[in-house]
Amino acid sequence: MAKKKIAVLTGGGDAPGLNAVIYTLTKTCILKYGYELIGYKMGYRGLYLNDFMPLTLESVTGILHKGGSILFSSNKDNLFDYKVIENGVAVRKDVSSVAVENLKKEGVDALVVLGGDGTLTSARDFSRLGINVIGVPKTIDNDLMATDRTFGFDTAVNIVTEALGRLHTTAESHHRVIVVEVMGRNAGWIALYGGLAGSADIILLPEIPYTLDNVVQKIKERDSRGKLFTIIVVSEGAREVGGQQTVNKIVEDSPDPVRLGGIAHKISYELEQRIGEEHEIRPVVLGHTQRGGETSPYDRILSARYGSYAAHLIHEEKFGNMVRIKGGEIGYVPLEEVIGSQKLVDPEGEIVNVCRDLGVSFGDRPVTRKK
Ligand code: F6P
Repeated sequence: MAKKKIAVLTGGGDAPGLNAVIYTLTKTCILKYGYELIGYKMGYRGLYLNDFMPLTLESVTGILHKGGSILFSSNKDNLFDYKVIENGVAVRKDVSSVAVENLKKEGVDALVVLGGDGTLTSARDFSRLGINVIGVPKTIDNDLMATDRTFGFDTAVNIVTEALGRLHTTAESHHRVIVVEVMGRNAGWIALYGGLAGSADIILLPEIPYTLDNVVQKIKERDSRGKLFTIIVVSEGAREVGGQQTVNKIVEDSPDPVRLGGIAHKISYELEQRIGEEHEIRPVVLGHTQRGGETSPYDRILSARYGSYAAHLIHEEKFGNMVRIKGGEIGYVPLEEVIGSQKLVDPEGEIVNVCRDLGVSFGDRPVTRKK
């Protein structure tokens, strides 16, 4: 009997842990099940162009800890709405049939897709076309409803926490207010977890609109106690009460074209108008450092669990599903159920309340202290 052939691709923005999934999936598929593997390069673009590389024990050796993706990634290539040039003119077309043909031509039995909401939407659509698909949830934003954890999130939180530690000492030396912008799109998980772990004084989230008055009140409340510096963590998707999110750019051919960014500079400018006499204000944008470098031990382990379980699902022919963690248990959920529902921070949730107990301001109300 011919060996089963498994294809893998990584789509969307990269996240630490992609390589750990590729590593574990490849090793489990080869060593336990005797499958053959290929990896399509640059996400769905590689599937369209039939651009792939063999995944072998040799090609994945030493990648468990490394951020990024050895298969590269693209967050622009939705093959169901793909930009092609026809007669010198750019037009958008459904080219999914080309991908299906390529998979048939290469004799691929199953396709494993590592991605967030946009990438997994296409995975579901390929599954509807009859391709044997397994999804693996990735995103530093941790905003997929169907799983408790996506890999990449823990690493991003570690990076934010480390940065806040460094920013504390310099803010304190100069009596400055430092406004630290972190990623997360419309979900405030990175700001909330990073802010709590890194002892932020003010945390601004997309889920809890703030007022500048309340931000200033907290800074002054700290001043009154002789705490002459303040660390503000602001999620890129945060907004004022009645205001809009701050958009950095629109990436036209991306499934989720809006790129947020710029709010740290906006808030810094506004604070300067209000309290510039008392404090110097500095914006810091952590940006893509949150996705780079080494993968945290937690994310390595989570990714290893996902990679190994994906291999078992292939063996059991449980296609059309995404691996996931619920209540600490590894399992799976139909791809049909994972798309389009964002997991957001509950403004009344436990972690928000822990922060409030510590006197952290979310900018939505004045912060008072009992003596
Ligand atoms: O979804 C992951 C993420 O890093 C978001 O937190 C951020 O808003 C976005 O991707 C940035 O996208 P890009 O890498 O295209 O700038």
